[in-house]
Amino acid sequence: MIRIDTVTKRYPDGTVAVDRLSLEIPDRSITVLVGPSGCGKTTTLRMINRMVEPSEGSILLDGVDIREQPVNSLRRSMGYVIQNAGLFQHRTIVDNIATVPRLLGWSRSKSRARAMELMERVGLDSALAKRYPYQLSGGQQQRVGVARALAADPPVLLMDEPFSAVDPVVRKGLQDELLRIQDELGKTIVFVTHDIDEAIKLGTTVAVLRTGGRLAQYAPPAELLTAPADAFVEDFLGTDRGIRRLSFFGTEGLELKRAPIVTVDTTAEEVAARTDVDDDVPYLLVTDRDGRPLGWSEPAALAAGPVDVARLLPHGRPFRHGGESLRAALDCAVLSPTGWAVAVDGTGRAVGVVSQQAIGEAIRTAHAERTTGAAGDDGSTGGGALGDADAATGAEVAG
Ligand SMILES: Nc1ncnc2c1ncn2[C@@H]1O[C@H](COP(=O)(O)OP(=O)(O)O)[C@@H](O)[C@H]1O
Ligand SMILES: [Mg+2]
Repeated sequence: MIRIDTVTKRYPDGTVAVDRLSLEIPDRSITVLVGPSGCGKTTTLRMINRMVEPSEGSILLDGVDIREQPVNSLRRSMGYVIQNAGLFQHRTIVDNIATVPRLLGWSRSKSRARAMELMERVGLDSALAKRYPYQLSGGQQQRVGVARALAADPPVLLMDEPFSAVDPVVRKGLQDELLRIQDELGKTIVFVTHDIDEAIKLGTTVAVLRTGGRLAQYAPPAELLTAPADAFVEDFLGTDRGIRRLSFFGTEGLELKRAPIVTVDTTAEEVAARTDVDDDVPYLLVTDRDGRPLGWSEPAALAAGPVDVARLLPHGRPFRHGGESLRAALDCAVLSPTGWAVAVDGTGRAVGVVSQQAIGEAIRTAHAERTTGAAGDDGSTGGGALGDADAATGAEVAG
């Protein structure tokens, strides 16, 4: 565990970049430092690997003051990833990744083998190994940066706005990849960003810093969204805090209706003869013979003749029942021309439909439960009650 204990950093010109910051950074999880530009995020990160020395206070790694450790071995135990990757331009990709193993005295062949293994791990085609950094896209370079930081298998990864310079689509891919790698490797990651969405998606715990390097709130993402500590945090979270909170609520409790589902080979007579259709379901969902959704139709149209797939109303993007959040379900319903969302199982087969209204009720129930769950407590326990599993699901679907 990394423990930042009442650390202040005053630069020689008098700037207080970090002001009495205390944080306990748990092992094998992603701790995000987020806040506006100039609030001391980079300074904090650099104090952890001693590129910057605190003016006051101390930083402990597994209980030992980092000042008591040789700086070289400390840095080797901490991979460091920065914006624009910071690659060596005159070295090939494979040699960039092999940098630290070579410094550690590994043989050339062992270092290269390790580099090739890491390229695969971070989703880079091995054909890129012999290229130079300028021959790669920004997103690919960023992946090389991550691979290089992981090369000597350090327990800690420090990442300073690593994905801030790439476009949103590539960025989402890099974020997903980081979560996947973290699932496999279980590093202790300290991740700096100014982007609150990125913080909420990636963080197991999020530290919100305000200008002057003061800690505004330190909590799991769901708790930040539920109970921002003050107006600054609330403002920083943005105006759609309530909607984003839905990412942390599951859909397993949604009551689905199966009755409105018919397969494409259902005859007009069968539709006409149906007695199991609720009056309050104005549309039927037509699926193929395998149960995959094709589109919506008014029952009268289906009772009038054979199904004309081309004339069905689009069903929009379905949500995975239990696997995706209430936010995803609400989005499906809002985008659906019928106002009903389609729920599918892991294989894409329709398992039911659910109305905007029913989703709305589930949202109200979830909000009420979470609010009472957190009340009467000091907040930190309330966040714990939201659970890591919830946070992980949220991370998967947020954004
Ligand atoms: N070497 C330095 N000398 C003086 N002031 C600095 C130095 N590095 C950063 N600062 C100042 O410290 C504050 C925090 O900077 P930084 O940690 O880089 O913030 P962030 O990464 O959150 O944008 C800023 O006001 C910045 O101008
Ligand atoms: Mg910075």
